Amino acid sequence: MKKRVLYIISIVIILIGIISYFTLHRKESSYTNEYIEITPIATHINGMDFIDSATCIECHAQIVKDHYKTAHFNSFQPANKQTIKGSFEKDKNTLNLGDKVTFNFTEKDSGFYQEPIFNNQNTPFYSAKMDIVVGSGTKGQSYLMWNNNNLLQLQASYFTPTNSWINSPGAPDQLAPARPVLERCLECHTTYAQNISGSKNGSKFHKKNLVYGIDCQRCHGPVKKHVVHHKQNPNDKIAKHIIKYSSLSRQQRLDACALCHSGLRTETTERAFSFAIGDTLKKFSSPDYDESSLEDLDVHGNQYGLLKASKCFTNSNSLNCITCHNPHKKERGNISSFNQKCMDCHTTISKPINCSGDKEEIKKTRNNCIQCHMPLVKSKTMKIQIPDGDEVSVDVRTHLIGIYK
Ligand code: HEC
Ligand code: HEC
Ligand code: HEC
Ligand code: HEC
Ligand code: HEC
Ligand code: HEC
Ligand code: HEC
Repeated sequence: MKKRVLYIISIVIILIGIISYFTLHRKESSYTNEYIEITPIATHINGMDFIDSATCIECHAQIVKDHYKTAHFNSFQPANKQTIKGSFEKDKNTLNLGDKVTFNFTEKDSGFYQEPIFNNQNTPFYSAKMDIVVGSGTKGQSYLMWNNNNLLQLQASYFTPTNSWINSPGAPDQLAPARPVLERCLECHTTYAQNISGSKNGSKFHKKNLVYGIDCQRCHGPVKKHVVHHKQNPNDKIAKHIIKYSSLSRQQRLDACALCHSGLRTETTERAFSFAIGDTLKKFSSPDYDESSLEDLDVHGNQYGLLKASKCFTNSNSLNCITCHNPHKKERGNISSFNQKCMDCHTTISKPINCSGDKEEIKKTRNNCIQCHMPLVKSKTMKIQIPDGDEVSVDVRTHLIGIYK
């Protein structure tokens, strides 16, 4: 009898053990599942979820830290004291538009405003809140406002070469209505925006389904599965569920940048917001200009067209944007690193450099190859008229590498 009781008790204990093992184990794995559930910050109309790029810090800390400082990441931001480069200080916070109107730029508790006043009146004609800043401020900035879901570009912009408020390039010399912002503008300056106008040429966007700045997912495409996999398999050091850059052809590599750096383009049926590294740009859009005429290519915004026409490009089979640029880093001004890229290749190609430029000058400029072979050239498109009639343009490094006098 006692033996049977002991026998039953031990069976019960074993059973409890087994059940609690499985229950606990199940709890643990469901806990992990909860842990890796990643909340999307926006969703592409094709169903792809966008997640916060802070999610990548856990495994790619340095890249994320560096990327936050780039012009790409800062190219489209909510407007605030830090992001607006134009001044709100007395004496710097006005802009004369012809001799009839003065723009005042004012800071209020509710935000930052553009307020044009007719010179014979006391109250502003309108007061428009700057909601979004376009442009990191390297060359200039443009300001957008929401009118319900309509996105509009305000008349006054900021121009870095003159460090002042300006009338937007292309705007008339008098008070003009705010311009509707089309999807095309956002495609190049931000990661994602959902057009709810029902047409490519509408300016209505979803205010919340919006990913500011050019972040990881604009270039690398869908990442959610990649993050979930690597969180679940922390020992897997081989990248999974992500497009492999190393496997791409030269044209695919170029296209990853040409999407936004080859001037204005007309879309085919595929939408630019669906493009990711590895895609073929030809399927998405074609240039709005004659590619064979160098005259039509501006130094601003068409690095692809100019580079492609350079001998460095046509006579080598590898040169692409990444040969010289690290897409994650703010590299502006790091001239010695760029010069090294010229040398990396020019000392390995069969013919030695016979740079018969002025030897003294070369020495003085510490072998600054770029100064002579990629000089600063005035942009034909990014320029303004200043009050005394002169034209001021931004200077841009030409990507037509060559011999200049
Ligand atoms: C839990 C860890 C983890 C997280 C979180 C993570 N990754 Fe990764 N990722 C990896 C590992 C491991 C690799 C392979 C080793 C490497 O290249 O660093 C990798 C590689 C990559 C690569 C290189 C692919 C190639 O060309 O070989 C890209 C791009 C990438 N990750 C993007 C992202 C982005 C964007 C995010 C954030 C949305 C992210 N990862 C979040 C673990 C992670
Ligand atoms: C989604 C569009 C888009 C893609 C894709 C893109 N860029 Fe850009 N890039 C921009 C815009 C917009 C700016 C201007 C940002 C600003 O200053 O506001 C810019 C600026 C730059 C700059 C100047 C940075 C500075 O410090 O002023 C470099 C260099 C650059 N891009 C290189 C690249 C390379 C290389 C690639 C491909 C790997 C690439 N871009 C892909 C849109 C893009
Ligand atoms: C085809 C892609 C494309 C479109 C469309 C586009 N941009 Fe840009 N934009 C760029 C690139 C690329 C740069 C940086 C180019 C360079 O420095 O050569 C740039 C630079 C700028 C800058 C200067 C940023 C800085 O700080 O240097 C501003 C401001 C700007 N764009 C505003 C706009 C606005 C506003 C629109 C829409 C109305 C627009 N852009 C449409 C690609 C585009
Ligand atoms: C402008 C496009 C662009 C953006 C934005 C971008 N990347 Fe990349 N990324 C690239 C390209 C191009 C490569 C390939 C570089 C190479 O092979 O030299 C790359 C390579 C990588 C790699 C693998 C090689 C390496 O450098 O370790 C990782 C990881 C990565 N990116 C993560 C990220 C993360 C995380 C972000 C956002 C914080 C991000 N990328 C934003 C274009 C981009
Ligand atoms: C991937 C290799 C590569 C890189 C990187 C490179 N080049 Fe070249 N470059 C070439 C080749 C190949 C030629 C053609 C040489 C020939 O035909 O003898 C060339 C030609 C030239 C020429 C002569 C152009 C002409 O029109 O006659 C100049 C000048 C030049 N490169 C300067 C530079 C400078 C400056 C840099 C850095 C900003 C640079 N290159 C980066 C490969 C490269
Ligand atoms: C041979 C080297 C080289 C290659 C290849 C190259 N770049 Fe550049 N890029 C430079 C240098 C040098 C600068 C000037 C950097 C500075 O002023 O600090 C520059 C500047 C830029 C700028 C800012 C222009 C300005 O003056 O404000 C953009 C945008 C840019 N590159 C995009 C690209 C894109 C897109 C590609 C590929 C189509 C590309 N680059 C290929 C060397 C290169
Ligand atoms: C002071 C201006 C200046 C500087 C700095 C300079 N070059 Fe040159 N380079 C020239 C001129 C001018 C020529 C044209 C010579 C001729 O055709 O007589 C030239 C020609 C060249 C050529 C074509 C000739 C050939 O060997 O095929 C290459 C390649 C070249 N330079 C590369 C470079 C590199 C790389 C650097 C940086 C280490 C550099 N240059 C720095 C002015 C300069």
